[in-house]
Parts: sequence; C-alpha cells; structure tokens
Amino acid sequence: MFTLAHLSDPHLPPLPKPRFAELCNKRMLGFLNWERGRKKFHCPEALEAIVRDVKASDADHIAVTGDLINLSLPAEYPRASAFLASLGQAKDVTLVPGNHDVYIRGVEQSPAAFWGDYMRGDDGLERFPFLRRRGNAALIALSTALPTAPFLATGRLGKRQLDRVADILDQTRDAFRIVLIHHPPRSTLQRYLKRLTDAAALRGVLAEKGAELLLHGHDHRCSLMQLTGPHGKKILAVGAPSASASATHGGEDAAGYNLFRIDGEAGNWRCAMTARQRGADGTVRVTEERQLF
Ligand SMILES: [Fe+2]
Repeated sequence: MFTLAHLSDPHLPPLPKPRFAELCNKRMLGFLNWERGRKKFHCPEALEAIVRDVKASDADHIAVTGDLINLSLPAEYPRASAFLASLGQAKDVTLVPGNHDVYIRGVEQSPAAFWGDYMRGDDGLERFPFLRRRGNAALIALSTALPTAPFLATGRLGKRQLDRVADILDQTRDAFRIVLIHHPPRSTLQRYLKRLTDAAALRGVLAEKGAELLLHGHDHRCSLMQLTGPHGKKILAVGAPSASASATHGGEDAAGYNLFRIDGEAGNWRCAMTARQRGADGTVRVTEERQLF
C-alpha cells in the first residue's frame, strides 16, 4: 500500500509587503487583486489546519501542484522553501510549479533555485518532466508554469515535455502512473484565459500511452474529470482546492486536500480516494470517499 497526499495552490499568506519598484509590471494587477479580495480568502489558519491534518495522515508521500506563492516577489521564494520543509524532506515531497510561481519574466529560474530539491527526479536531474518511483507508484511531474501577459494565467507544456512524458509513460507501465501538473487537462470556456494551451496534445499523449491518475490544481476546486486512455479506458483527473482558502467563495472551494491509497499491481490496481476539507468551524474532516479503482 502506498498513500499519497495531494495538496495544491497554498498561495502562501500573508503576502510580504512589496517595494514599489517590484510592482512596476504585471505584479501591480496581481497586487491590486490580492488587496481587493484574495487576501481575505487565503488565510494562514486554514493552511496551518490543512498542513497539520496532512502531517497527521498516514501519507507516505506528498504531492504539491503549484502556486506556492502569489506575485513571485523575491521575499516569497524563501518563505515557500520553509513551507516545503515544514511538509517533509525533499525525497518525500514532490513539487510542480504553477503560474504564480513564475509570475513575471526574469524569475523563470527562481523555483529551481529555491525549491530544486523538491523538483528533481530519481535520475538526479532538474528538468521537466521528471520521474520519481515511490512504492508501487510512478510520480510523473510536468511543468506548465511560464510568465504570461497581464490578464492571462495560461500554461504550456511544449513539444519537448510532451515527447518525454510519452516515453516515461511507456517505461512505467508496471507502476501506478500518476501525472502531476498545475493546470487542468481540460478547461471550461469561462476559464479560456487560464487554460493549458496545449491541453489537447497532452490528452492525445494520455489517450495513446495511458496513465492511472492525473492530479492538478489551478482551479481552486474539488473536481473530478474523465479523460480517455488507450482502448477507451478511463483516466481520472482529480483537482484539489487551494490549501489556504478560508471558505467557499466565488466558485472556489474551501481549503482541503486528497489522500489516495494505492494497492495492487498492473492490471489489478486498487485506489481509494479520501477528500478532506476544512469546515466553517475550522476542523478538517472527510467530505468524500470514493473507490477510483
Ligand atoms: Fe492558484
């Protein structure tokens, strides 16, 4: 049995006070957005409750699917390093970055510089996609994070990652293959400006090579969608809410995370999912249990 905890989008609160010069770019819009609303919804108490609950769970490994921070301010990266360390050692925590982790041009190397240990494959290399085998699972980590123009929060994988993930999915057929990615593999029209631009190509790779599970964040919602694998087999894609959301608001869910208990072997997998969410009284409890396999 291998147990994986998946949390996403902690958007570490509170936001450190930015210097004016640091806001003379797309950050200004993000800062206004934070001040006008988001800072009410991403609260340290909610995140602390979720982290406490994750630590008290029987998880063997933790996956974090991006948006550790908010505006990619220089002061945010070391704080996120401390957050990762609070979750566990780098060998036990796998991170993929989100669009807020590379919010503007010029910070593309910052996630690797600060959090590289959490984004390194078993081969010791820092490159995406990377592969970590843990228990009977293969964790396949993709990066969709790249700076975008104001009002956009799109992500992109690119041909190099898509080609390599196809190879990795081939090589790990013996394992329970879990794809970790920030952006969802399909977005609604309302989230067109926040979509993964080459999602169709990713779905094509999954349809050809297969995977057992895909875990994502970005939408700040508890979600479950079905993708098509080889021979019409279903691949489930599970979205986690923001781990710091104080409450349900504007279509986003209250803080929570998911646990996946994986057992069996290729051709005969068992996987049970438990969703845990923080309620209005501040306690974290089971909100859904589902047998996925
Ligand atoms: Fe986010």
